[in-house]
Amino acid sequence: MTRIFSGIKPTGHLTLGNYLGAVRQWVDTDQHRAEALFCVVDLHALTVEHDPARVRRLSRQAATLLLAAGLDPAHCTVFVQSHVDEHTRLAYLLECTATDGEMRRMIQYKEKAARERATGGSVRLSLLTYPVLMAADILAYGADEVPVGDDQAQHVELTRDLAARFNQRYGHAFTVPRAVLPTVAARVMDLQDPTSKMGKSHAETSGIVYLLDEPDVVHKKVMRAVTDSGSEVTYDREGQPGVTNLLEILAACTHRSPVELAASYASYGALKRDTADAVVELLRPVRERHARLCADPGHVDEVLRAGAEQARSLARPTVDAAYRAIGLMPPL
Ligand code: TYM
Repeated sequence: MTRIFSGIKPTGHLTLGNYLGAVRQWVDTDQHRAEALFCVVDLHALTVEHDPARVRRLSRQAATLLLAAGLDPAHCTVFVQSHVDEHTRLAYLLECTATDGEMRRMIQYKEKAARERATGGSVRLSLLTYPVLMAADILAYGADEVPVGDDQAQHVELTRDLAARFNQRYGHAFTVPRAVLPTVAARVMDLQDPTSKMGKSHAETSGIVYLLDEPDVVHKKVMRAVTDSGSEVTYDREGQPGVTNLLEILAACTHRSPVELAASYASYGALKRDTADAVVELLRPVRERHARLCADPGHVDEVLRAGAEQARSLARPTVDAAYRAIGLMPPL
């Protein structure tokens, strides 16, 4: 059976980008068609300046939101990365497989390191080695597919390289996985700056729709979205990035084609109104289920406990075999 692994980092409140780019596929299709594991990757949240209490709170919130979005523990495994030691155990072996040059070529590293330096911060070593930990997340489970948004494609490509290199040098240990991107909304852009990605850790929040935003807040954010000069509605990422972003969001919410939708609008106002309504309707059940789950924290705890146990039992044999293959002596 196909094995699927994906993860989400608790560095901020989950956004519409996370939902349309990744979580919705996990809920609607992945958990039903494969053996699927979804992980709140809290260790990754420590790679940038962080507040311990906030990371802990956001980890719980992310797990709760994944369940609220529709991940069903009867169909998939939901767990927290730091509860399963195999991730860090394997990351070290992969650090011994990867090169410094490969890490420094990663776009996200370059962008995040530049941002840290620009604000006077220092760059944590773990930010550089981040993609190795991500590769360990995936390879520990022998995942065939990794459903992610477009911004993670380069990391999955690196994971493939590391898996193939390890297998070639030390004998077959890992499945070589592939990224699976959604056809629409693989990169949802910021509503105020449609040339940059809608990201959960950005400081300026007026262009970001959060999954837990109240309907009137969602409406306001979408209605105030930056559109482009001119008045025609065309699907053109280069020429009309603002309008194209709204078309992608509306298309993803309504399961229609963004090009077809473009032809049916004569004004920006109508497009914004329909997009705002569609997003509100999409998120309404998620917000409602989240509120119900918050009233029953014991249920979330139990899902995460059982999830970690299941994840551990799947990862341990793969990671133990990799330890032997690379030349480490078995414990006596
Ligand atoms: P993270 O937490 O930034 O994002 C979680 C998922 O949401 C997708 N995504 C988006 N998709 C479309 N438009 C956007 N604006 C947008 N913003 C985020 C991301 O592509 C991702 O699929 N490194 C990962 C977490 C991770 C992981 C893994 C993922 C760690 N280990 C192993 C897969 C497999 C990250 O930072 O995602």
